[in-house]
Amino acid sequence: MTHTSRQRGFATRAIHHGYDPMSHQGALVPPIYQTSTFAFPNVEQGAACFAGEAPGYIYTRISNPTLALLEARIAALEGGEAGVAFASGMGAITSTLWTLLAPGDEILVDMTLYGCTFSFLHHGLARFGVTVRHCDMSSPLEVQRALNPQTKVVYFETPANPNMRLVDIRQVSMIARAHGAITVVDNTYCTPYLQRPLELGADIVVHSATKYLSGHGDVTAGLVVCDAATAERIRLYGLKDMTGAVLSPQDANLVLRGIKTLALRMDRHCDNAKAIVGLLANHPLVEQVHYPDLPDNPQRMLALRQMKRAGGMIAFELKGGIETGRRFMNALRLVTRAVSLGDPETLAQHPASMTHSTYTPEERAAHGISEGLVRISAGLEDAEDLLADFEQALAIAALGVRSEIAAA
Ligand SMILES: Cc1ncc(COP(=O)(O)O)c(C=O)c1O
Repeated sequence: MTHTSRQRGFATRAIHHGYDPMSHQGALVPPIYQTSTFAFPNVEQGAACFAGEAPGYIYTRISNPTLALLEARIAALEGGEAGVAFASGMGAITSTLWTLLAPGDEILVDMTLYGCTFSFLHHGLARFGVTVRHCDMSSPLEVQRALNPQTKVVYFETPANPNMRLVDIRQVSMIARAHGAITVVDNTYCTPYLQRPLELGADIVVHSATKYLSGHGDVTAGLVVCDAATAERIRLYGLKDMTGAVLSPQDANLVLRGIKTLALRMDRHCDNAKAIVGLLANHPLVEQVHYPDLPDNPQRMLALRQMKRAGGMIAFELKGGIETGRRFMNALRLVTRAVSLGDPETLAQHPASMTHSTYTPEERAAHGISEGLVRISAGLEDAEDLLADFEQALAIAALGVRSEIAAA
């Protein structure tokens, strides 16, 4: 990370950081190092690489030049010292937490988390002697109260998947640090274009790069950004030994390509989400819309403080609950029924029966995930086409509500 590239703007860094074509025979696009292993000039040099006494690549599960470029680029965008690439977001999250936690430690997490993160914590880590405790992190005071001497890690998503609740990154990181705990933020929903947790005091950022960062729905990938020493621990322990969740060089190349257009795409995702929210917020069939930049959202000021824009994700509930929600989703013609997010296609899914079916119904109720919630990832299509599809699907869903009232 050179001083000059540090001064460059976000979009410029997303396209250029860490790569000089002149060092690669003029190739404008970085070559893909499609190799699992690396040759040593002699045994002594190989041994020195293994001992950490000489620089050089050894084996792709540890590092690879294509992955290294992606790692340098995401670190430059998040404002961190170093990055580590993984085969998936879950690879990034599990490798990080396996590295930071030991039996007897406690991890304090927000109430609402992505379904597989919740599942890993309760059905994975907890089996190995780590205590998992939830608290409502939308209140920094609750975090202050919940921390104890065993708490080694404070972990949250903001906005949370799927209910869009926010956590004050600056306040919670400050409280955790004063307690000697490490703050880990899942920044998948925002990407560094909209929110940079490290600049607000968090210690580690984790990503599902499957989503906005790669941006085209054709790769699974994960990333971590933090200080260089912690990144090296996560690489050599969490990644190399505990999970082996190494990203393939081909997929690293796809993420690098996606990141080049991240700034443009994120603005379009935000524009389309805003248009959809405008329609939903004024529609008689809609019970509630969850989106950071709504006038009646009590966390709106926090959103304005820590997010550049309100993002491309929306959650909402319809009158009549999940029955109406199902009718609405089944009536969509352009919007695609699918999990994942951050793709060019606008996606609709039902968290209770899909991404958050890892929670029991009781757990969902306790963790703020309502059964009727519908989650939308606003894509990159023309807003007018999306609005037309939403309007017709809401009209069909409303017919069902009226006939139920008539039958009652
Ligand atoms: C907020 C969040 N974090 C992490 C993940 C896991 O990422 P992956 O599917 O790339 O393993 C997801 C996946 O949906 C997610 O939405």
